[in-house]
Amino acid sequence: MKILLVNGSPHEHGCTYTALREIGLAAEGEGLETEVFWIGSKAVNGCVACRGCRDGHCVFGAEDGVNALIDAINASDGVVFGTPVHFAGPAGNLHSMLDRVFYAKRSFAGKPGAAIASCRRSGGTATFDVLNKYFTISSMPIVSSQYWNVVHGNSPEEVRRDEEGMQTMRTLGRNMAWLIKCIAAGKAAGVEFPPREAKFAFTNFIR
Ligand SMILES: Cc1cc2nc3c(=O)[nH]c(=O)nc-3n(C[C@H](O)[C@H](O)[C@H](O)COP(=O)(O)O)c2cc1C
Repeated sequence: MKILLVNGSPHEHGCTYTALREIGLAAEGEGLETEVFWIGSKAVNGCVACRGCRDGHCVFGAEDGVNALIDAINASDGVVFGTPVHFAGPAGNLHSMLDRVFYAKRSFAGKPGAAIASCRRSGGTATFDVLNKYFTISSMPIVSSQYWNVVHGNSPEEVRRDEEGMQTMRTLGRNMAWLIKCIAAGKAAGVEFPPREAKFAFTNFIR
């Protein structure tokens, strides 16, 4: 059972990574595997709305890691999206990537998800809200913690000094490990995630 920790920061080992590792260590303490997926710092295009998505992948996604991220999420039992706060929202590259991941794949139904944000001062909960929207349109159970999932700091050292933020990360890691185990136990007992209705309603507000 594996949790994918997506580092959406341009810094491979910065504040966001520091928070994600705290989640990872707590989950590993509960017997789960974790893997960090760093999206890198190269430019990522937003979705160009070509509607050329094929087999749950983006037609341009082999070039910039979008399809690798889809495959890594598919291979995981739970996923955490981590981002630095950039102007009170997620970092642009991560935002662009997730638009394309979720437009192409549409759904990771039943897979637990959680979002975390790292900020120097403010904008953490607004950013957290944006990332949670990907889960709530995708039938993904959201894993919560003892507070909204935000750490504060401008350097890894400052993040480590955010005692409450780091505890919130550890609680999140343990809570996600627990839910993943519950889902596995449910499956073993014959409890499957409910299938989608055969006809998927897609009505625009003009009708
Ligand atoms: C372009 C940019 C915009 C930022 N905007 C905010 C902001 O709105 N609020 C805030 O508290 N910090 C802001 N910051 C600071 C980062 O969110 C903060 O340093 C974060 O912890 C860095 O995480 P990282 O090391 O994983 O990149 C911004 C930083 C950059 C580079």
